[in-house]
Amino acid sequence: MPRTSSLYIESLSHEWLERYDKVRNQSLKLVETLTPEDQMVQSMPEASPAKWHIAHTTWFFETFVLAPRISGYVPFDTRFSFLFNSYYKRLGGHPHRTIRGAFSRPSLDEIRLYRMHVDNAMQELLGRERGEMNAELLRLLELGLNHEQQHQELIVTDIKHAFWTNPIRPAFRPALHPALHPTSKPGCHSGQVRAVESSASRVVPLAWRHFDEGTYEVGHDMRGFAFDNELPRHKAYLKSFCIASRLITNQEYMIFMDNGGYRRPELWLSDAWDHVCDNGWGSPLYWERTGDTWAQFTCNGMMPLDPAEPVCHVSFYEADAFARWADARLPTEFEWEIAAGSVRDSAKTSGNLLEKENFHPVPARQSAKAANQLRPSLQQVFGDTWEWTSSPYTAYPGYHFPAGAEGEYNGKFMCNQMVLRGGSCATPESHIRSTYRNFFPPQMRWQFSGIRLARNPELDG
Ligand SMILES: [Fe+2]
Repeated sequence: MPRTSSLYIESLSHEWLERYDKVRNQSLKLVETLTPEDQMVQSMPEASPAKWHIAHTTWFFETFVLAPRISGYVPFDTRFSFLFNSYYKRLGGHPHRTIRGAFSRPSLDEIRLYRMHVDNAMQELLGRERGEMNAELLRLLELGLNHEQQHQELIVTDIKHAFWTNPIRPAFRPALHPALHPTSKPGCHSGQVRAVESSASRVVPLAWRHFDEGTYEVGHDMRGFAFDNELPRHKAYLKSFCIASRLITNQEYMIFMDNGGYRRPELWLSDAWDHVCDNGWGSPLYWERTGDTWAQFTCNGMMPLDPAEPVCHVSFYEADAFARWADARLPTEFEWEIAAGSVRDSAKTSGNLLEKENFHPVPARQSAKAANQLRPSLQQVFGDTWEWTSSPYTAYPGYHFPAGAEGEYNGKFMCNQMVLRGGSCATPESHIRSTYRNFFPPQMRWQFSGIRLARNPELDG
C-alpha cells in the first residue's frame, strides 16, 4: 500500500485541490481532439478505449475515496461500480477486459457528467478539510492521482495502437511538432552503410559510464509518495558495471536487422525465438518498409524513420536479443536505479515527458559532457522511452501484500513480467522517479519501450 510521509500531512487542502484539478484536467486535455467514436475503440485485448480510461479513473476516486469517506454518498449510477471496475476481485467483479470497446452506453456525454459528479464531490470533500489534511484521505488522494497519471499514459499508447490498426491511419496529434524531426529526410535506407552515412552527424556517440562494485541502497526512501512495489528500501550488492550514456538509436537497430538479427536463433531466448517465428516479427512495432526505405507510425501519423531517434516499441525479447548481438546486456533494475540516481534533478524537468507534448522519443543531444569518455553524462534517463531491464518483476525483500482491495493494485502482478524504468514521452513529469518500477510481459511492445545497454567492465579496453 502506498505510504504517506509527514511531509504530506503538512500540506494544505487548497494545494491539493489545485493538484487534483490539474491532474484531472490533464486527462481531458489528452482526449479533447478525439471524437466520441475514437474514444470507443479497443484495438486489442491489452488496450482500452479512451472513454473507458476516463470513466475508470473516475470510478477509482468514487470507490476508494468518496464511498468510504462520505456517509450517505450517492453514486452517479450504481451500475458503474461493476462496469468500470478493472480487475479488483474483492470489489465484486467486473466485465472481462476484452469487451471494454463494446460499451456504447453509457454515452460519452454521460461519462463526462459522471466525472463532474465525482469532481464536485471530491472538491467538496477537500474543501471541508481546513489546514492540515487527514493522513488517510491524503494517502488515498495521492493514490488516485497517481493512478490517473498511469492511465494518462495508457490513453496515449492505446489510441496510438487503435489509430495504427485503422487502415486510413489517423493521427492522434495531426500537426507535426517542431521539436521533432528538425532535419528529417524523406526516408532512411535500410542498408547499414547508407543509414550511417545519412545520419552520422546527428547521432551522439555512445559512451559508457562506470559504476564501482559495492552495496547500494535501493528502493524508495519514503520521502513523498511511492507505490508499494518500490518498498521497502533495502541493500543490494552490485558488481562493478558500465551503462550506456544514451538510448539505442533506430540507426543502430537497423544495423542489427541488416545483420540478420531477426533470423539468427542464437541471439534469442527460447521463448523469444518462438514468438518471433510464430508472429513473423522482422522489425519493431509500427515500422513499415516501402521499397528500400522505412517509415514508422507515430502520434503525428506516418513519418519517415529518423535514424537518430531512440528505437521504440520493442519488446523485452527484442531488447535482450539486440543486447546479445551487441556484445552487451540489459542493465538490472538496480544498476539502472543507481545510475539514474547519479543524474541531476534537472534531467527530469528537461526530459521528453508528457508535458512536452511530443508524444514521441527525440534524439539525444550533442554535448561536451556526453562526449566525455572518462565520465560521460547520462542522457534520456527520464522520458523518451521506458527502458527494459533484465530484472523480473518480483517483490522486494520484506514486501507485504497490502490488505484489502488496494492490495490488488501491484502485488498480484508479480509473475511473468519484466521491469522497465525511466518513463517515456507519455509519462507525466510528476509521476516518474528513479525508484519507479513499471512492468509488462516480455512480448509486449505497444508501450513506448526502448533499449539502454549495460556491460561488464572487463569487456572494456
Ligand atoms: Fe486502473
